[in-house]
Amino acid sequence: MTAPMTAPAPARTRWDWWEDAVIYQVYPRSFADSDGDGCGDLNGIRDRLGHLRELGVDALWISPFYTSPQADGGYDVADYRAVDPVYGTVGDADALITDAHALGLRVIVDVVPNHCSDQHPWFLRALREGAGSPLRSRFHFRPGRGPGGEEPPNDWISLFGGPAWTRTTEPDGTPGEWYLHLFAAQQPDLNWDSTAVQDEFRSILRFWLDLGVDGFRVDVAHGLVKAPGLPDLGRYEQLGLLGETSVPYFDQDGVHEIYRSWRTLLEEYPGQRIAVAEAWTRTLDRTARYVRPGELHQAFNFKFMNAPWDDVRLRELITTSLAAMGTVDAPTTWTLSNHDVIRHATRYAQGDPARGLRRARAAALLMLALPGSAYLYQGEELGLPEVTDIPDEVRRDPAFHRADGGHGMRDGCRVPLPWSGTRAPYGFGPVPGGPSWLPQPPEWADLSVEAQTGDPRSVLELYRSALRLRRTLPALGAGRSVEWLDLAPGVLAFRRDSDQGAVVCAVNTTGAPVRVTDGGLGALLLCSAEPPVTEHPGEVLLAADSTGWWLAG
Ligand code: NOJ
Ligand code: MG
Repeated sequence: MTAPMTAPAPARTRWDWWEDAVIYQVYPRSFADSDGDGCGDLNGIRDRLGHLRELGVDALWISPFYTSPQADGGYDVADYRAVDPVYGTVGDADALITDAHALGLRVIVDVVPNHCSDQHPWFLRALREGAGSPLRSRFHFRPGRGPGGEEPPNDWISLFGGPAWTRTTEPDGTPGEWYLHLFAAQQPDLNWDSTAVQDEFRSILRFWLDLGVDGFRVDVAHGLVKAPGLPDLGRYEQLGLLGETSVPYFDQDGVHEIYRSWRTLLEEYPGQRIAVAEAWTRTLDRTARYVRPGELHQAFNFKFMNAPWDDVRLRELITTSLAAMGTVDAPTTWTLSNHDVIRHATRYAQGDPARGLRRARAAALLMLALPGSAYLYQGEELGLPEVTDIPDEVRRDPAFHRADGGHGMRDGCRVPLPWSGTRAPYGFGPVPGGPSWLPQPPEWADLSVEAQTGDPRSVLELYRSALRLRRTLPALGAGRSVEWLDLAPGVLAFRRDSDQGAVVCAVNTTGAPVRVTDGGLGALLLCSAEPPVTEHPGEVLLAADSTGWWLAG
């Protein structure tokens, strides 16, 4: 009944911390607000480290908290070595890192090297000094095409909608050169051919490493190098991040030289500092290139994140992922949600919240049983759904405004977390009835950390149990392969062995209970829904849309 291993069995018995780390993404604006201004902040995170400790994660990744006009939620950085006053101070960051370490939690921060803010001093000076300014070579400034340079220099389109070029005004008031921005106009792309840019980012990495961070999440890691000459795309449709075609501004071979130099720098520091790539690539083989020996440690598996709830598709994707990462001896880095996508409790069954939540619970146990590292997005441990009825006037996502609301509505996954109490902002801020930068749905009172704690049926207790088991059972940790089991149609099942016992994970992806025989199932460890019913020895009924973990019999 078993299929061949997807990759050669690992020869190793010792793994580095990050090879199976569970890392929790904090979107700082929406996590916890310590000072009551309606925006989350670093001291809010610091106050709530106990939640992460009790949840049982190994590390947190904090999205950008640097000085920024917040044109794109902080992914438009004006000063890479300073904390935005909304979030606190560098001293607060220092204290947060120290407290996290004292609790055994590592801290990863975002680095945003593809672009900076249009308020960054380099860009301001480049504008001020006009065409010919040496500062312009740190960006992509070009004269326009057509009569009077009125047309953009090429046909590239911003990922947030509209052209990827904005025309400048020269210091004398005349229309001037254009500059490239793959994202919002407030996010000019940096030119990575410039040694000043390269040196600056090595220095920025050192600044945060010296402060004690354990690693970096590299924003748009696949975008830094553009094809020479910035050739036209030749077509004009809006391109998604995870396209099937190759484009001249993503995943160019030149980016890898940058990451080899960053790896060397990271290795200079003690304690295994890491970097994880946000690299949207055409294939998993292309993703694997970011985690070759001597490059970055991890790269998010966005193909897995985007996969439909379907056992055949999931099995194929997991197999391909393990094989692709196996060829470079890297772990796979699983994730179901982040601050850019529709929350998976909604995504897995649009329009059917109960089913979406069942699948989200099942998907969490699937992901946490796979070999490799997993990233959780804040609020998924509460089973939060996407908020779909945010009034347009409070939306902040630049993609919403640039594309006339038709594309990229990312505010719905960024609504502040509910912590406690019955009155908004549900403990997000210090004062009941106080502000939160986006409104929270009233039903979130029942989803708060306080409301779910101690309720064995809650999503929160499911995550806590799963992470507790993952810490104690090596078969649920690092590795490179799974042994597939063909239990029943619609059921995704695999076995993982370790020198301290084996575990079987079975996922019923269908909407009806499925009878499973001969699964080699021993004692049940955990299940995401109603406990599987044993009707006869060796025969188990798996609830619809649910996952179970068993010791192997
Ligand atoms: C990816 C980030 O995750 C997203 O939030 C941001 O808008 C873009 N990169 C641009 O920095
Ligand atoms: Mg605040």
